[in-house]
Amino acid sequence: MKKPLIAPSILSADWGCLRDEVLRMRDMGADLLHIDVMDGNFVPNISIGVGVQKHLTEDGKPILPFDTHLMAEEPDYLLEQCREFQSEFVTVHIEAVRHINRLIQKIRELGMRPGISLNPGTSVLMLEEVLPLVDLVLVMSVNPGFGGQKMIPRSLDKIRWLSNYRSNHELSYLIQVDGGIKLDNIGLIWKKGADIAVSGSGIFGSRDKNIINEMKNKYREADAYAED
Ligand code: DX5
Ligand code: ZN
Repeated sequence: MKKPLIAPSILSADWGCLRDEVLRMRDMGADLLHIDVMDGNFVPNISIGVGVQKHLTEDGKPILPFDTHLMAEEPDYLLEQCREFQSEFVTVHIEAVRHINRLIQKIRELGMRPGISLNPGTSVLMLEEVLPLVDLVLVMSVNPGFGGQKMIPRSLDKIRWLSNYRSNHELSYLIQVDGGIKLDNIGLIWKKGADIAVSGSGIFGSRDKNIINEMKNKYREADAYAED
């Protein structure tokens, strides 16, 4: 996978024809498929279970690599299912897990790539001990639970911090940003050092068939005037 990467969030897809929606995303150039699993407890909403991934396959393989975002109080309970239904990335929230080091190891032992996420109210400093252990850091740029919210600008500072930390410590985690990303603000997150943009309403709410490529093009534009 070559940067920049776009991960459409199926939370905003038409669930009445979800598989077709995912095939459409692949044709449009999506790199990953972002699956938002909400338990109605960690976040004030219930979405879909990991099992939906079983229906988003072709010849038994994921139509797009599954990027599973667990917004759940007990993500541990869901890990076996993530493996069964072929998640590539499994991201858990630092706020939800007591023994985060152990959980990250478990995700890896199950053959998946661990990600760690933080809510807008959580400092990036909370992640420091686990940054060498994860493949992905997901910066929530809205309070999790719903699509269609507005990006919280302070998230941009977190992206920059994670990007600097990564180069200073020779780490290689991917920086993913989720919430309120649209064509008109995606350049801001690219410029700060993000690698993967998650977008729900920004993609599924657009009539533009070229929206994903246009989002990627903003990366090159942002790169041209990137700050240190
Ligand atoms: C929110 C989810 C997001 C959501 C993003 O809790 O984690 O993935 O689908 O939706 P938009 O892009 O509409 O803000
Ligand atoms: Zn998400």
